[in-house]
Amino acid sequence: MIKEIVGIQWGDEGKGRASHYESKTAALVIRATGGNNAGHTVVANGKKYAMHLLPSAIIRDEVKSIIGPGVVIDPDVLISEIKTMREAGVEINPEKLFISGKAHIIMPQHKKLDALYEEMKKNKIGTTGRGIGPCYSDKCDRTGIRMNDLISGELTPEKIGEMLKKANILFEKYDYETFDENEVYKTCMKWKEQLGEYICDVQHIIMETYKANKDIVIEGAQALYLDLDHGDYPFVTSSNPNASGAASGAGIGPTLIDEVIGIIKAYCSRVGEGPFPTEQKNEIGDKIRDLGHEYGTTTGRPRRCGWLDLVMIKDAAFINGLTSLCVNHVDTIGKLEEIKVCVSYKYKGKEIDYIPMNRQECEPVYKTFKGSWDTTGAKTYEDLPENAKEYISFIEEYTGVKVKYIGVGADESQTIIK
Ligand code: GDP
Ligand code: IMO
Ligand code: MG
Repeated sequence: MIKEIVGIQWGDEGKGRASHYESKTAALVIRATGGNNAGHTVVANGKKYAMHLLPSAIIRDEVKSIIGPGVVIDPDVLISEIKTMREAGVEINPEKLFISGKAHIIMPQHKKLDALYEEMKKNKIGTTGRGIGPCYSDKCDRTGIRMNDLISGELTPEKIGEMLKKANILFEKYDYETFDENEVYKTCMKWKEQLGEYICDVQHIIMETYKANKDIVIEGAQALYLDLDHGDYPFVTSSNPNASGAASGAGIGPTLIDEVIGIIKAYCSRVGEGPFPTEQKNEIGDKIRDLGHEYGTTTGRPRRCGWLDLVMIKDAAFINGLTSLCVNHVDTIGKLEEIKVCVSYKYKGKEIDYIPMNRQECEPVYKTFKGSWDTTGAKTYEDLPENAKEYISFIEEYTGVKVKYIGVGADESQTIIK
């Protein structure tokens, strides 16, 4: 069985939590897209873990973790993440963690370029500043350096110099310090020493696991509305975190995937710039932020908060081919007395129930629900208060997608199967 976990709002829906949950029966979990712009939280065994590059299943000893070909890797971040995990008692060794040789490396100049590009823009994207966009650009430009280059013996200062050329011209023009190919080469050799034993041909491992009929989980990062093609361009990330993109980033064909689970929050949040029709720039937004502890796992930025937008979820269900939904933070939203849900938009004098090209011009039309529910102690769907059940049923009815499970707290034990 192959299951895929994808975000279908603007990220931070609880994909890490869902991926860890689904990995209970899995032999293999693959992180498929993005880089350390992601921050995936798992609360389990009485501990809180924050993953940026490692799949969330890394905390399970019996599961193999793969960083797939679609991921971009900042080796320094990965080295420090491995160290932090080990300090938290998580076992990491080359029989458990495998890094795709095809994954591209976020080089030192990429992070600087990320900052410079933002500085040069009038309308800033509000990137995480982790070098994601410039790394994917070099990948598309076919000048990127891949993890396999670290161990192939073919990497030379000249090859790095070729990659650095464009960036250094720009840095000179803007009075930024330039990069020296020999220094960057030395950095690469240090990375080889620390990560070399994990780099391999992961495709082979994935295919063998599939042939042996063992369960595989694909852990998506980011979300549909941050997708390079389907998100609010240009306020997007530089990869395709939709279900097809994540399948490709993992190296698994779409027809082999049995379940595509779309993760949502019972409200919306967004970090960075871009359209957000249901945003509440008022005391309601502030209250959701406080109740849901909505501060970025990666950058610590306060997240913009607002009502659940079901038009987004309905369109996302089709683009991703969702087979089910997971709704998180049902505990959080229930603390409000009155809850609104966007069911259509007013757009150019008409009422529409799809996402048009100019989303920033959409005015949401809401349906109101009664809140004030308390999920404390709820273990089964039947235990949930009626108002909460009504809310969940409406999500299913509107989107046409069944809810598989519900989050009523951050801890893995606070997961309710529907
Ligand atoms: P991801 O990027 O999609 O993996 O999500 P993040 O980990 O960045 O953000 C989700 C946040 O919500 C984390 O702090 C989780 O611990 C927390 N969380 C997830 N599900 C629930 C839930 O059902 N209730 C509450 N209160 N917190 C949750
Ligand atoms: P997870 O996997 C939330 C957002 C950034 C910015 C835009 C582009 O934890 O859900 P980038 O650095 O990727 O070039 O930034 O995308 N962004 C995320 N927002 N969660 C994420 O990942 C994100 N990854 C990127 O805030 O708006
Ligand atoms: Mg996150």
